[in-house]
Amino acid sequence: MATKIAVFASGRGSNFQAIQEAIERGELDAKVELVVTDKPSSYVVTRADNFGIPVHAFTAKSYESKEAYEAEIVSLLRDKQVEWIVLAGYMRLVGKTLLSAFSNRIVNIHPSLLPSFPGKDAIGQAMDHGVKVTGVTVHLVDEGMDTGPILSQAAIEVVDGNREETENRIHAMEHVLYTKTLKQLFEK
Ligand code: GAR
Repeated sequence: MATKIAVFASGRGSNFQAIQEAIERGELDAKVELVVTDKPSSYVVTRADNFGIPVHAFTAKSYESKEAYEAEIVSLLRDKQVEWIVLAGYMRLVGKTLLSAFSNRIVNIHPSLLPSFPGKDAIGQAMDHGVKVTGVTVHLVDEGMDTGPILSQAAIEVVDGNREETENRIHAMEHVLYTKTLKQLFEK
């Protein structure tokens, strides 16, 4: 049976697209039941529409608290019997409400070799630091910022002074590593 997942994203959604394409190629036995975004105008919404996948777009500011918007999400995910939450560029800390409803069932991808360079603009942080090798990490999510047990990592050589090319390498690696790691996780 296909594993039911929800993909959370705040931006362009290239990881979401890579996951959905892997599903359609039959490489990943999963079904994206819902895309959740905290940025209603982000490009991931267009991508989800193109695939005919339902979207829950919310604006955090219009809720009283993190607990309130997360409780609504939990209820939507329960209705759809979602088993795993897949964070793909979701730039918001996951709170207690989601963490306790999906304990050890939330996975994240981050564009660095964690624990180096957590948080925003990990690629910029790595290049500013002058590292020669950076990479990609997939991990289970806990209450911290890009922390939690590491599931997989891959290294990428930094292209000196060339952010665009470094970024392209990282994103290409993300799209492969995320699908591969999710496959292993769902087959357990
Ligand atoms: C990806 O590089 C992902 O690793 C990163 O956001 C980007 C989203 O790209 N996530 C984080 O930095 C999490 N702290 P996408 O919207 O094209 O998938």
